[in-house]
Amino acid sequence: MKLEELVKVDVEVKECQYPVFIGSDYLTYIGDLIEPFVRSKKLFIITDDLVSMLYLPMVKESLEKAEFEVYALPVPQGERSKTLEQAGKLMERILKIGCDRHSTIVSLGGGVVGDLAGFCASVLLRGIDFIQIPTTLLAQTDSSVGGKTAVNTEAGKNLIGTFHQPKAVFIDVHTLKTLDPQQVTAGFAEVVKYGLALNIDFWNWLVDSGEQVLALDETACIYAVEQSCRIKAAVVAEDEFEQTGLRSLLNYGHTFGHAIEAVSGMRGNILHGEAIAIGSVLAAWLSADMQLCAADVPKKIKEQYEKWGLPTQFDALKISELLSYMKKDKKTMGMQLNFVLLEDIGSGVLVHNINPSDVEKVLYEKGRKRNAVSYY
Ligand SMILES: NC(=O)c1ccc[n+]([C@@H]2O[C@H](COP(=O)([O-])OP(=O)(O)OC[C@H]3O[C@@H](n4cnc5c(N)ncnc54)[C@H](O)[C@@H]3O)[C@@H](O)[C@H]2O)c1
Repeated sequence: MKLEELVKVDVEVKECQYPVFIGSDYLTYIGDLIEPFVRSKKLFIITDDLVSMLYLPMVKESLEKAEFEVYALPVPQGERSKTLEQAGKLMERILKIGCDRHSTIVSLGGGVVGDLAGFCASVLLRGIDFIQIPTTLLAQTDSSVGGKTAVNTEAGKNLIGTFHQPKAVFIDVHTLKTLDPQQVTAGFAEVVKYGLALNIDFWNWLVDSGEQVLALDETACIYAVEQSCRIKAAVVAEDEFEQTGLRSLLNYGHTFGHAIEAVSGMRGNILHGEAIAIGSVLAAWLSADMQLCAADVPKKIKEQYEKWGLPTQFDALKISELLSYMKKDKKTMGMQLNFVLLEDIGSGVLVHNINPSDVEKVLYEKGRKRNAVSYY
C-alpha cells in the first residue's frame, strides 16, 4: 500500500500544511505510511481501552515491523478521560519513558483521545509532533482536522485547550464497522452540519446518499469523509483561530446543542452528535422565525433528519436551564446570545445579540416533544 493510493485532502494554515489521508482497511500498512511524517523512531500512542482492544495490536505490529519504538498509553474510554489530571498523568509517563523534541504522539481513537493527545502534544516540551488516527465518524469528519485540542473542566467542556495542528491525519473508514450504531448516527449529524451551514451540493448529495453512509458503505463513507474534511480544511485555512466568524459557522447547531447536551447530561444520556442534530433543526426554526430563511426550510430539514433517523426534538428538559446554559456558553460574548443561523440550506451566517425570548419561543414550540412530560 502506498500513500498515493489513498484519497488526500490538504489542510493549509499559516504556519504549516498537512495531509489527511482517507481510505479503507489500510491500518496494517500504517508503519510504512507514517514514516515521512515523523522525525524519530519513538512513538507514543494515546488511545482508549476499547479502541486499544480493537485496533492497537494491528497498528502496533505494523509500526514495530517498520522498526518504530512504540509506547502505548491507553486511558479509560469516554469524556471522563478528557481532563487536565489525565493529561498530566500521560505527560508524566511520557517524560519518564523519555521523549525529546523529535518524538511524536499518535492518537488512536475518537475525538476524546484526539483532543487529549493533541493537548499533551501541544504543551509537552512546549510542543512536539502529533499524528491523528481517528476511528469514529465524528473524529474522522470533524475533530481530527483543524488543530483544536482541549480538556474539560468542572466549569464546562473544552474550556482549556490549544491550537496545535497535526503533522498528518490517517483515516481508515473500515474502523467505523465496529462502532456502536448510535455513535454512527451521532457522527453523521456533524457531517450533515457541513452541508447545512456551508455547502448545498454536499447537502444534496447527503439527501441522495446519506443512507449509504449510515449503512457504512465504504465508498460512500470515503466520499462523505473527504467532503467533510475538504469543507473544514477550507474554513480553517481562512480562519484558523476563529477570528473572522467563518470558523464559527462550523458550530452550526451547537449553541442549542451544547445546552441540550449539558442539561440532558444531568438527567439522561444523549450523545454530543444527537444534541447537535436537535440543535441544527432548532436553529433552522429560529432562522425562519427571524425571517432569515424561507418559512418552508426548517420543515424540509426536519423531515430529512427524521428520514435519516436523527433526533429533532428533546424530551422533558427545563427550558429555563437550557437558556441559562446558553447565556454562559463560551461562544457567548458579554451575555449576548449569538447563533449560527441559516439564510438558506448551505448558507449559514453568524448572528449576534439574539433576543432570548425568540430562542425561548423556539424551545417551547419546536424543541420539546409534544408528549414530553411538562417540565419547566
Ligand atoms: N477538536 C475538535 O475540533 C473537536 C470537534 C468536535 C468534537 N470534538 C470532541 O470530540 C469528542 C467526541 O468524540 P467522539 O464522538 O469520537 O467520542 P469518543 O472519542 O468518546 O468515542 C466514542 C466511543 O466510541 C468508541 N470507539 C472509538 N472508535 C471506535 C471504533 N472504531 N469501534 C468501536 N468503538 C469505537 C470509544 O471507545 C468511545 O467509547 C468530544 O470530547 C468533543 O468535544 C472535538
